[in-house]
Order: sequence, then structure tokens, then C-alpha cells
Amino acid sequence: MNAPAQKGLGVNPPSHVKNTQLIAWVSEMVALCKPKDVVWCNGSDEEYKNLCELLVQAGTFKKLNPIKRPNSYLACSDPNDVARVEDRTFICSQKQEDAGPTNNWCDPSEMRNTLKPLFDGCMQGRTMYVVPFSMGPLGSPIAHIGVELSDSAYVAVNMKIMTRMGKEVYDVLGTEGAFVPCVHTVGAPLSSGQKDSTWPCNATKYIVHYPETREIWSYGSGYGGNALLGKKCFALRIASNMGRDEGWLAEHMLILGVTPPNGKKYHVAAAFPSACGKTNFAMLIPPTGFDGWSVTTIGDDIAWIKPGTDGRLYAINPEAGYFGVAPGTNTLTNPNCMASLNNDVIFTNVALTDDGDVWWEGMGETPAHCIDWQGKDWTPAIAKETGAKAAHPNARFTVAATNNPAIDAAWDDPKGVAIDAFIFGGRRSTTVPLVTEARSWVEGVYMASTMGSETTAAATGAQGVVRRDPFAMLPFTGYNMSDYFQHWLDLGAKLSKQGATLPKIFTTNWFQKGADGKFIWPGYGENMRVLKWMIDRIENTVTGHDHIFGVSPNYPEINWKGLDFTADQFAQVTKIDKSAWQAELVLHKELFEQLSYHLPKALKEAQEGLEKRLAGI
Ligand code: OXD
Ligand code: MN
Repeated sequence: MNAPAQKGLGVNPPSHVKNTQLIAWVSEMVALCKPKDVVWCNGSDEEYKNLCELLVQAGTFKKLNPIKRPNSYLACSDPNDVARVEDRTFICSQKQEDAGPTNNWCDPSEMRNTLKPLFDGCMQGRTMYVVPFSMGPLGSPIAHIGVELSDSAYVAVNMKIMTRMGKEVYDVLGTEGAFVPCVHTVGAPLSSGQKDSTWPCNATKYIVHYPETREIWSYGSGYGGNALLGKKCFALRIASNMGRDEGWLAEHMLILGVTPPNGKKYHVAAAFPSACGKTNFAMLIPPTGFDGWSVTTIGDDIAWIKPGTDGRLYAINPEAGYFGVAPGTNTLTNPNCMASLNNDVIFTNVALTDDGDVWWEGMGETPAHCIDWQGKDWTPAIAKETGAKAAHPNARFTVAATNNPAIDAAWDDPKGVAIDAFIFGGRRSTTVPLVTEARSWVEGVYMASTMGSETTAAATGAQGVVRRDPFAMLPFTGYNMSDYFQHWLDLGAKLSKQGATLPKIFTTNWFQKGADGKFIWPGYGENMRVLKWMIDRIENTVTGHDHIFGVSPNYPEINWKGLDFTADQFAQVTKIDKSAWQAELVLHKELFEQLSYHLPKALKEAQEGLEKRLAGI
């Protein structure tokens, strides 16, 4: 039954809000969602502080010990709301084939009919926050604006960290400027006098995208990418559609700068599936043997990349903060990340220590006692007996990019940075070499399209299953995957026709295991050695060797100073095993069968070439 309309609630936009479409849309959404009041957020520090205080009073936030972790909070979610819900995520294009076989699709008018009664009165008893945000530096030609309406103060404070949120967005928007409308509700209306839960949400969840009208509607979850709609929903699913239509790329990529001692700086954009160490790579600290080298972070998760007038590809990080996975992060695996987390952090689903600080598995010394993410006592003995985790495996931190000691000086540059190389890397315990360079743009697109990665417990609960994750975009491409491949091919062809030097494309695999089940390659900061080889290839100072899949380094071409890694071990992580590749090719073919509608001919030909070369070894 539809909730009764709430009489007399005006939207009362502040005087600096002049965008007529925005005011009309907020009025329409207020009439539908029926919040008890509307707050137009201004993005100020004072507003952030007040909202955090409100969340403390509501029991959603615990303020952490201000000496150990100044200005930081811990939120613990409902156990049924702990991660992105891919099976509840929908791309509602007019035609099913435009969503393609890798997305859940529903006819847009049918979905609107489903959502209307759910959204009707969904914010009763709650405040609607109007959150204006820019994805990318304000006014950058690569940036775009969104406005999120949410009934969650937790969302509003996270959006303040994760985006450029605030009043200035309205100036960029002006009276007629375009924005992506994003509506979010936790789906838990409150009747008068009803006690609120500390993490309101609904067992029914819908994360819905209408690509043609560029709208996002999210129902039932307060967690991460389900609720912070600037991130995966806008910056990837909707933006990938915008990019296809307008000739640019919205990618699930970190962006880093790497500067050798000679001062010539390079920029690399790298796509890794979720839980493959993207944040670690984005914040890499060069190891022993790399005196005078530096690596700086532009972004850790998403890149928007547009061709410049010089034909080069320029990338920005559309986000302003990091929403990273906490478990496994420590001062050895990622010292820059740990330093970023010293102050002004929102933690979600980590454990609370007895001295008011946070802890997670893999952080360092295990506490004798703490309160786990579900509010229960946790000790090492309890963990041993029951397997209980102190922190949820997908526990997160939200922190401003400016907290990162390795932030790149150009991270906020509206022009973006010119990309020299793309990296695509999956988690594979066998088969895929440490690093391979594509011999052409098409071969690179083939590598990225067929990329596979072993799932981790954090993502799916199942461990070690290889899932194809083209371009690390499987859950994020907002249209037909084959059309997305074609878009990459078309962009490459267009730029090279203009005489541009395209970025080189590499694929990496840090995760091969030996017969003892242990990782062979040391990873983390040692990945710098591979990064240097890529730069040497860009500069054409090393040749590598050709194999069926592309070009990989020769042992002496890597700087081994400070690392004991033998030629035998190197041979193991770079070998091409014929039978493993025969099995791999079967999986590539299965993928292409699934994606046969609109699959680019050039990729089919690349596959035939690979098959022929494989038969010849
Ligand atoms: C993320 C993800 O949270 O990729 O960044 O899942
Ligand atoms: Mn991601």
C-alpha cells in the first residue's frame, strides 16, 4: 500500500542552488520518498563533524580513542549488509542485448514499476540528505557531477571523504548544468516512536542503473558500493556508458606515477580485479636497489581517461578518497596505507580494541581481547575454537586521498596525467606469466578481455575458482561487454590513425604458487622490479623475448639488486606450459562463446593466432 503523502514539506533549496532541474527532481523525490525533513549538504568540515556526532548518538559510530586514532570512527554493519550485491545489481537498458550476458537485466518500465512502491514512503521518519558531488577535480573537462539523495548520514559523511562534495558543485552546475541523479535509501522507514537500528537496511536490495537516462536507484543497503553511489554505480557503470557515447574510458584502474632517478616521470593505469592488491600497488614503496626512484599515487580504484588534443590519453582519479579493504593491510605490506590511516578515518566492520583503537586480521600483533565486528568478545582462543574473525574479511576504511604520504603532486590536476602504460593483472596460481607485454593494441585488448582471476573468500566465500573478469570490469561495465571491447579497439584505432603513440599494454600475475603451495614471487614493493622493466620497454632499452602470448623479460633485464630471486625461480614464474595454455584457451573460447553477440572480429582473430602459435610449440 502506498504511504500517505506528507503535507507541507517544502524542499527549500538554499539560495545558492539555482539548477532548475535539480530542484524539480528533489521535489519529486521528496514527494515519493516522504522523508521527515530535507538537508541540503554544504560539504563543510563543520557539517561533517555534526553528522559524525549524530551518528555517535545514534549508536552507528563509536568514536575511537582520540590519542591513538584522532578524529576517527568505527561503524559496524548489519551482518546481512557487508558487501556489494552483484546478484542484486541491474543494468536496465531498453534492450536486453545492450546490457549483455554479463549483467543482470530487467526491462526499465518493469523495474520502475517494481521500485515505485518500494520507494514510496521509504524515507518516512528519516532525513533526506542532498549530497552534491563532483567526480574528478571541480570544473575539470574530464570530471562530471552527480547528486545523491540518501536517507543515511553514514552515506553523507563517507561521500564527503570519497568525492569532492559541497557547495562549490552548485557553482559548476549553474542553472542548466547536467548531473547524474542518484537516489539511495536504506529501505527502513521509521514510524513515529519506533526505535531505529544502528545499521538500518532491508533484506530486499536493488542496485539499479538506467543507462539511457543516466539514473541510479539504490534500495535496501547502506554498505560501500551499494550506497556510495559516486563509486561503482556512477564512476564505472554509468560512466562507462557515457565514455562509450562520448569517446572516452571509465575504468576499474589505479593510477600511479613512477619517477626514476633521471627525473623523467611515467604514468601507469592498472586494472586488477577486486582483492588483488590494487591499493598496495598504487602505494608501492620502491625496495632496496631502487635508490632515487619514487612511486606516487594518483588513484587507487577508478580512472577516467580521455584523449587530449595531442592524441595522448589523460587520466584523472574521479574519487577523492580510498574505500579500501582493511584485513591484510599492515606496515610491511603497505606502509603508506597504514600511515594514511593514522587519523580522520571511518572504519567499517573492523574490531575494536580494549584501548579504543581498531584491529583486523593481518594488521600485526594480535590483541589478547577485542570486540569483533559483530559486537562480540573476541580472543585468539575463541578464534581458534570457532573460527570467528575479529574483522569481517571485507571490512573497510574510508580515508581522504590527501592522507596518503605518497600522494602525487598532480592527483588533483584538472588536466589529468598522460598515461604511458596500461597493466591488467589477475590472481592466478598457475599458467599466466609474471609479466607479458602485448605486441599490439589488439593483442593487449585480447589479454585484458580474457583475463581470469581466482576468487578470494572476501569476494565470494569460495576460494580458488578462476572467474573470467575482462578488464577487471565484470561487475562494473554498464553495457554489453563485447561492445565495450569494441570501444577499446575503436579508440586505439582512432588514436593511432591520428599518429598518436598508444600506451603499451602489459598483463601481470604476481600470484603463481610453487609445488609447496607458497607464492613464488615476493610481490608488494618487489613489483617495482617489474614496473622498471616496463619502463625499459617503453624506452626500448631491453628486448625481452617473444612467446605465444606476448613478450616477457629475460632474467638479466630485471634489476635484482637487494633481492635473492634465482634464474630458476624466474623461469618458473615466466614459463609457458603448453598443456596449461591448452586448458586456458578452452576457457578463453568459452568466454567468447558467451560473448559472441557483437564480439569484435579482431579479437576472434587474435584468439586464432594464439591457438596457432600454441599448436606450434
Ligand atoms: C572495491 C571493489 O571495493 O572492487 O573497490 O570491490
Ligand atoms: Mn574496486
